[in-house]
Amino acid sequence: MTTDALMNTYGTRAATLVKGEGARLWDADGNEYLDALSGIAVCGLGHSHPGIAAAVAEQAGTLTHCSNFFGIPNQQKLADKLRDISGMSNVFFGNSGAEANEAAIKMARLFGHKKGIKLPTIVVMDNAFHGRTLATLTASGSRKVQAGFEPLVRGFARSPYNDIEALTIIGDNNPNICAVLVEPIQGEGGIRIGDGDYLQKLRAVCDQRGWLLMLDEVQTGNGRTGKYFCYQHSGILPDVVTTSKGLGNGVPIGACLASGEAAELMQPGNHGSTFGGNPLSCAAALAAVTAIVDGGLDHRAAELGERIMAGFKTELAGVAHVKDIRGMGCMIGIELDRPCKSLFMTAMAQGLIINVTADSVIRLLPPMIMTDSEADQLVAILAPLIKDFKTD
Ligand SMILES: Cc1ncc(COP(=O)(O)O)c(C=O)c1O
Repeated sequence: MTTDALMNTYGTRAATLVKGEGARLWDADGNEYLDALSGIAVCGLGHSHPGIAAAVAEQAGTLTHCSNFFGIPNQQKLADKLRDISGMSNVFFGNSGAEANEAAIKMARLFGHKKGIKLPTIVVMDNAFHGRTLATLTASGSRKVQAGFEPLVRGFARSPYNDIEALTIIGDNNPNICAVLVEPIQGEGGIRIGDGDYLQKLRAVCDQRGWLLMLDEVQTGNGRTGKYFCYQHSGILPDVVTTSKGLGNGVPIGACLASGEAAELMQPGNHGSTFGGNPLSCAAALAAVTAIVDGGLDHRAAELGERIMAGFKTELAGVAHVKDIRGMGCMIGIELDRPCKSLFMTAMAQGLIINVTADSVIRLLPPMIMTDSEADQLVAILAPLIKDFKTD
């Protein structure tokens, strides 16, 4: 089943998927796959989750859309729930991670202007990924994402990730800085994890200098790292946090949450979205957030991630071309000393869906509902493929 009517943004597709259940997927030819990618960190509750399917069906049969001119009960319930979970005070809903980050970027600019800064500037990190809109691709730290789309957007300064000293120097030299936008763990960048106290140190710098600390939790959020939000491991509160991928478990929704002064920046007319926070996506997200929190899925993510990492550490011990095995909860990277993109297709042929990012990092983002035996199966299929891997 192919067509040439689609714009060629994704290249050749590996398979045509038609059905999913839990951590399993099936293609149009009836082949079954174990899913260790979750639609890139989206379906943390697995596929065809009955609670979400029921919530979507009920809402679709009641009211799908009405616009933000009107109150939407599930939008209000979802905002309350996210506020309780996050410690933030206000929420703006959009439809994607990039849109959630756009809202954050616009808030930083309002904040800067309020302080009298004419060219408000946000510090962003090397190897970051924040999306594909013009502002978020500018904020991303990869030339691949930016090339061909110049002129880029003004108002960003770049710093190495996990380097507080470099950030301090940038601040000393640029009076226009008003915010820092950072992923607690860089996902697309290769599952790069900052030092244990990185977020605390970032919080301290932002406090000292009067900058907003804005965390992009589009990939790290929704329970995946072992807490609903990754910053909750470090005991700090950001000023702004964005979430999207796992928020609706596959139904498109994004959110930008803010606290303190940041929460009061947006006023009527400043920002909006036709679909953002509509009844359907909020019904799905409310069901997903409830299932994650009430089901303790964040704890499960931590336990499952440890089991998978321990399995790989045992199976791949002493394999010379494996540089590192790292991760937090169900966000795991296995870094090789060489490019390994072809492992994606090799694993598909063995009935396993994985991803390779940053050329040489095998990225695993399994659903948090994966069973122990499925986790063991994942290690049993993938470890030998990694051991035997030569070159792309
Ligand atoms: C950290 C991070 N931010 C933002 C995005 C962009 O999200 P979306 O593709 O929903 O616009 C992604 C997507 O991979 C991401 O990983």
